[in-house]
Amino acid sequence: MEILVVINIQHLGLQRSQKFQIFFVWTSTVAPTHKLKTSLFSQGPSIFHPPIRIPFPNPPSTLPEAQVSDGSIPIIDLEALHGPSRPEIVKQLGQACQLQGFFAVKNHGIPRPTVDSIFDTTREFFHQPKEERMKFYTPDPNSDIRLMNAYKDEVANVYVARESLKFHCHPVEKYVDKWPTNPPSFRKSAAEYLTNVRRVEITLLGAISESLGLETDYIEKKLGGHYVSLNYYGACEESNLELTYGVRAHTDPTIITILLQDEVPGLQALSEGKWMDVNPIPDTVVVHVGDLLQAISNHRFKSLVHQAMVNCEKERMSIASYCYPSSDAMIGPPEKLIDSDHPAVYKDFTFKEFSEQMWKVISFDDARLNSFKCSAA
Ligand code: OGA
Ligand code: NI
Repeated sequence: MEILVVINIQHLGLQRSQKFQIFFVWTSTVAPTHKLKTSLFSQGPSIFHPPIRIPFPNPPSTLPEAQVSDGSIPIIDLEALHGPSRPEIVKQLGQACQLQGFFAVKNHGIPRPTVDSIFDTTREFFHQPKEERMKFYTPDPNSDIRLMNAYKDEVANVYVARESLKFHCHPVEKYVDKWPTNPPSFRKSAAEYLTNVRRVEITLLGAISESLGLETDYIEKKLGGHYVSLNYYGACEESNLELTYGVRAHTDPTIITILLQDEVPGLQALSEGKWMDVNPIPDTVVVHVGDLLQAISNHRFKSLVHQAMVNCEKERMSIASYCYPSSDAMIGPPEKLIDSDHPAVYKDFTFKEFSEQMWKVISFDDARLNSFKCSAA
């Protein structure tokens, strides 16, 4: 016998993320032991109907505490890194990476017209008819350029609204021929922005290396690729908002990620167990610690769990620049960061080894590093 259970928690005044906690607890405890069909809605939007059967035994991990905190974002002055206060800024950077896992960067030197132009181009690209965008669709994750569509996560019964165009971009000359020619401004705008963001990345990695007590070029020497994701979040229909995410909670499998947001809020970071809105600050970019910096720093820095929300009023765009090592670069912690008080948390591993299995581990946190831990079998 199958029982249809409908839980209507829509009117309990809970935050969306609290509802998810109920959902996750439900799916991972009650549901596996009974043959149940579950739905979070009694009268939900059509994309969530009919109630679906939750596949088991693979429920998503329970997300941490889900209140939104009002914490403030550390702001790093990039220009000051080139002056006498460099040691102070390096210290601030190290603290931000260690305590928050993210920070904003001001005076980054990316010209305003360059920023305006990459957003105009991104908007024009995603406003094109679907057939034009779909020319870049491929299921192959190793493709040099790839469109990813919005989708419904059948396991969690949520809709993930982000559409993104992801492509390799360093060196620009090697990849530019693969990039769209529509809109006609695309290649020039993207090349200009990405050249600028690479410069910011190298400056930051130098200071981050120093903050760990390493040579300035320690991390830079490991660099290989650079991958970018132009993210587009359409305004969401109100009836779908409750169970629509922009992007679900995740860490980035990068050294660092540099995120340029437009003026529409949406990014949230997990900070001390609470979701914190990382609202756009004009003329800044946000930098996240990624999984690989967590490993290089011998877990002194923690990769950032973050997600993006959508809203009903405005479309939102962000440009995420993902910084990667070369495939043969060794990622384990350097000897300088290992002593009897700080034993090595990670073994030495290459980025190739990491990337071979990074998509196999589905988790919202840094679990894809687990098999590289010294304690792992
Ligand atoms: C990403 C990401 C968040 C955002 O692209 O990895 O987390 O606000 N984006 O778009
Ligand atoms: Ni991300």
